[in-house]
Amino acid sequence: MSNDSLPSPDASPDTSSISFTALYTGHVWAANGLSAPAFRTRMGSFYYHALAPFEYIGGKIAGGNIRTFLLQRHYLIDHLVTRAIEEEGVTQVLEIACGLSPRGCRFTAKYPQLKYIEADLPEMADRKQKLLAQADALSPLHQAVALNALATEGPESVESVIRESFDADKPLLVITEGLVNYFDLESINHFWVRLRATLAANGGGMYLTDNYPLLHDHPFYRTMKVLRGMLGTVSRSRVSFHFGSDAEAQAHFEAQGFAPVTVHNPKDYYDLLPMPRSRGNPFVRVIEGRV
Ligand SMILES: C[S@@+](CC[C@H](N)C(=O)[O-])C[C@H]1O[C@@H](n2cnc3c(N)ncnc32)[C@H](O)[C@@H]1O
Repeated sequence: MSNDSLPSPDASPDTSSISFTALYTGHVWAANGLSAPAFRTRMGSFYYHALAPFEYIGGKIAGGNIRTFLLQRHYLIDHLVTRAIEEEGVTQVLEIACGLSPRGCRFTAKYPQLKYIEADLPEMADRKQKLLAQADALSPLHQAVALNALATEGPESVESVIRESFDADKPLLVITEGLVNYFDLESINHFWVRLRATLAANGGGMYLTDNYPLLHDHPFYRTMKVLRGMLGTVSRSRVSFHFGSDAEAQAHFEAQGFAPVTVHNPKDYYDLLPMPRSRGNPFVRVIEGRV
């Protein structure tokens, strides 16, 4: 594993200091035509414009910027979810750490029979539930509920949300986007192990997450380390890049019992999806782990 993770946890289950980052990503989706007007926030717009000069410089110097990898991961996850629904008949989705992601609205509009539960820390889940109501997107099949990925018991645990919200006989597709790198590997691995066990005890399924391998030969290596420090400070969390290569990430998920595991690189989808391109090897991957 990468030795570049920050020191290990006494993982506090209160990680709400991370939640403001959802306003920024929410604005990225809105500014790029992926979202509904209801999901725009004043603070999101403020962060978006405040970062614009760095984005410009990042694009010029490093051949990619934050928006590039956010859009790459978002389009790629959308594509894998579409494929699971259309080609494998998946009918239920749990999007953890949903923030202001518009994915639930887009997918339930396109697939009205789909059960799509969005989940986040209580305050953000509450906010999302209200926004879904405003966007006229609430239904028994589409709700936002409270879930804390670090809770090992009680109604906010992933085990409880899956038990209460989904049909145990059917496969479940679980997404985390923009969550796992706010935790060191040990903390987030507890969540992965519990998630896999819960899916295995039910109808199986698939897990999709974004990941950022800290590739030592990547031109972005130093930038990534700086970004990690800045993001860790402002979100008061243990921002970590968990793996030093795609092979390491794949081996880790396989060792936790996911099989098969595929690491998707956005550059393999440039011709298929309308995502922005990085100048070199992209910064982000999407991991698909089957149960
Ligand atoms: C960077 S935002 C990503 C939001 C959304 N997935 C997106 O891509 O726009 C991180 C999200 O993680 C949520 N979060 C933080 N700690 C969490 C935890 N322990 N369990 C579940 N969600 C958490 C935050 O509230 C926030 O909505």
